[in-house]
Amino acid sequence: MKKIFLLKILVVLLTITSCKTEKKEVKIQDLKSINYLDESKEDFNERIEWWRNARFGMFIHWGVYSIPAGTHAGKEIGGLGEWIMNNAKIPVAEYEQYTKQFNPKEFDAVLWAKTMKKAGMKYVVITSKHHDGFALWDSKVSDYDVIDFSPYGKDILKQLSDACKKEGIKFGLYHSIIDWHHPEANYNEFLRAKKDTIGYKPKFANYLKNYLKPQLKELIDNYDPEILWFDGEWTREFNHEQGLDLYQYVRSLKPSIIINNRVDKGRKGHQGMNRNDGVKYAGDFGTPEQQILETASTLDWESCMTMNKSWGFKSNDDNWKSSELLIHNLIDVVAKGGNFLLNVGPTSTGLIPGESIERLQEIGNWLDINGEAIYNTERLENKYKQGDNIRFTKKKNSHIIYSIILKKTENKINLKGIKPNKNSSISILGFNTELEWSYNSENGLDINIPNSILDTWNDKTYALTIKIKGEEKLK
Ligand code: GLC
Repeated sequence: MKKIFLLKILVVLLTITSCKTEKKEVKIQDLKSINYLDESKEDFNERIEWWRNARFGMFIHWGVYSIPAGTHAGKEIGGLGEWIMNNAKIPVAEYEQYTKQFNPKEFDAVLWAKTMKKAGMKYVVITSKHHDGFALWDSKVSDYDVIDFSPYGKDILKQLSDACKKEGIKFGLYHSIIDWHHPEANYNEFLRAKKDTIGYKPKFANYLKNYLKPQLKELIDNYDPEILWFDGEWTREFNHEQGLDLYQYVRSLKPSIIINNRVDKGRKGHQGMNRNDGVKYAGDFGTPEQQILETASTLDWESCMTMNKSWGFKSNDDNWKSSELLIHNLIDVVAKGGNFLLNVGPTSTGLIPGESIERLQEIGNWLDINGEAIYNTERLENKYKQGDNIRFTKKKNSHIIYSIILKKTENKINLKGIKPNKNSSISILGFNTELEWSYNSENGLDINIPNSILDTWNDKTYALTIKIKGEEKLK
């Protein structure tokens, strides 16, 4: 009896320990499979594919700063509109007075989404929270948001994400790592108060854990964004380990989400790509700011740019870029393998400035005809341009090359490095004319553009696209 009893105990003990080891193994495997920093190239390509195909999106900088709109206490404040709190050294309590006025009664999310769509934009990135800390949704970890603090009292992100979903626009969020309003993150306030505040120090790690991360979870739970666009990673309080952790955290909440490289500390200034210093930085794409990479890149990147100078609305900012320049920028970016995120800074009443709307319409009109040379394309392997006024793109998985002409040309165009198919058809988007052409491997491709097409070139042509059934001639 005793023996059997002991045996039974042994069996029970063995089962318990074997269960334990089994559980342990499963756990280790789970952990491995959720290391988002160690993603295979295939998984990454699959995740980011829609974004690569989309090519063109709207950036929206909107918040309390649209109220002072560049002027505080009767003085015009230099620099970017959304930086006014910092640049005019406005203390938190004083800035909050602006927040108490935030009431954009004319905000029409459906109209904004339709504007994006008409402009040919496929995604949007809006500031859920900029450096000033004000949240455009009802944050549960804060009262400093559009519901609890400002008279408007309606959830802006909800309205816009719903409207975008209806229009087929992918929804993304810009969220600053900096927070000038939060006592544990506000380094500026700290510096200013330092002399008389003994023992006060920003506790950035607390803020990350108890505020920033919970906000990000709210955003993902509530609005299911496709992109998280971080900024302010350069603040001295934030470090590389925290960047890796933030990336892991956001991906673990939504594995398919796409995250820019400002989640970590790798960015090379405004050029925007990561430093090549042997460190493995987190982030899915580089973020050149107000500039375009000098040459094509095999890496993923997105150039973000304003139409005038400031991101946030500034009433006296009249430095508008022309529609032509913006369209040429879009073409240049895409030829170099990037995306273009073009900014609007709505007013405090909720309107996108008329100058922006005009430009968006022009871009949309151009894309209506030439969009197939932009969306679902990739850069050529060997060249993205010929001279200053020709750019190339290629339709994915096909034998179609687009040669985009930025300036009115002579009738004869000679292209190097492009080989048309036998009996190829070459045409210009928007015209039903087959172009005459000849090809030999020495001289390349000669194309004749008839006057009937060239004579239509006017102020609003911006660029013509030659569509060539053929392929890149790789040496
Ligand atoms: C700069 C500005 C910031 C803006 C960002 C957009 O970093 O300082 O205000 O949001 O550019 O990329």
